[in-house]
Amino acid sequence: MLSHSPTDTINFAGRQVFVKRDDKLHPNFSGNKARKFYHFLINDFPKVTRIVGSGSAQANSLYSLSVLAKMKGWQLDYYVSHISAYIQSQLQTYPVIVSNFTQAHHNGANIIQVDWGQAKLSGCKHLDDVINILKPEYLNRYSEQQILFIPEGGRCEYAKTGIYQLGCEIIDWAKGQNISALSVYLPSGTGTTAVFLQQYFIKKCQKEIIDIKVLTCSTVGGDTYLANQFCELNPDKTQHPTIINDGNKYHFGKLYLPLFELWNDVLETSGIEFDLLYDPIGLSVLKRYIEANQCPDRQVLYIHQGGLLGNATMLPRYKRKLANT
Ligand SMILES: Cc1ncc(COP(=O)(O)O)c(C=O)c1O
Repeated sequence: MLSHSPTDTINFAGRQVFVKRDDKLHPNFSGNKARKFYHFLINDFPKVTRIVGSGSAQANSLYSLSVLAKMKGWQLDYYVSHISAYIQSQLQTYPVIVSNFTQAHHNGANIIQVDWGQAKLSGCKHLDDVINILKPEYLNRYSEQQILFIPEGGRCEYAKTGIYQLGCEIIDWAKGQNISALSVYLPSGTGTTAVFLQQYFIKKCQKEIIDIKVLTCSTVGGDTYLANQFCELNPDKTQHPTIINDGNKYHFGKLYLPLFELWNDVLETSGIEFDLLYDPIGLSVLKRYIEANQCPDRQVLYIHQGGLLGNATMLPRYKRKLANT
């Protein structure tokens, strides 16, 4: 199933919140990547033989791209800046411990660690810069039709196909529920999902006479960084989602015990397991927002963007941290 995820209702921060269960979209794709890579899943690319991507060794995009490559019979070259000893050691415990890294490795992904020190000396700020340097080499070996370069985190125009599909499902659902004012909320990384969703709602909602706004928070680099990311994807600021925060600046991938406590509370009270990288920040920011009575007259829909395989790495890290406090 690649579209039409179900919607649940939970009690959160003293009110009713709807949860769009994109984590249930496809067993082998994180919800977010099922949307972002929908374009590649539903279309044929008869000449393509190889995809080239980059990101963290723990990223669900590594895993999802490895599944996509396997399904399509393509080779995946995935560039990472660092593979920690801990992540590497998970290969010994596979399949007892299944993580994004081990499963991608098992799926035949070619996971390539770049010399990040050297790359930085060559002026690279992001892994995408490394890919840009490698591009001519690839295009010497393969034709442009044979190879797909996918930016880090699926941050590309192709992502619109699946994200617009998500937007369409939300409008249909809201109409079915007779909702006239809806805040759609999701934690952002690159901001791609949030900005394309907002763009879609602006286009569609005028005709539908329904008021849908996208709210988001930053989990990487802070609010200014996220606003800049939006500008790169869509220079028209009037089409950007609203960024909210809880007054704290978080560092991506860092462990925060109060957030883990909140994540556990939500798991216990709602029975829904959220991811441990984006959602603890997302939940904390939304909780603060609701408690400050910022959206009394609007329904709230939280998008569960999957990423649960990453919990195989995050949960033991949190448990070790808890044991050491
Ligand atoms: C589980 C999960 N949540 C949130 C996000 C953030 O999405 P975006 O990068 O589109 O902001 C991602 C993206 O990788 C994700 O995998």
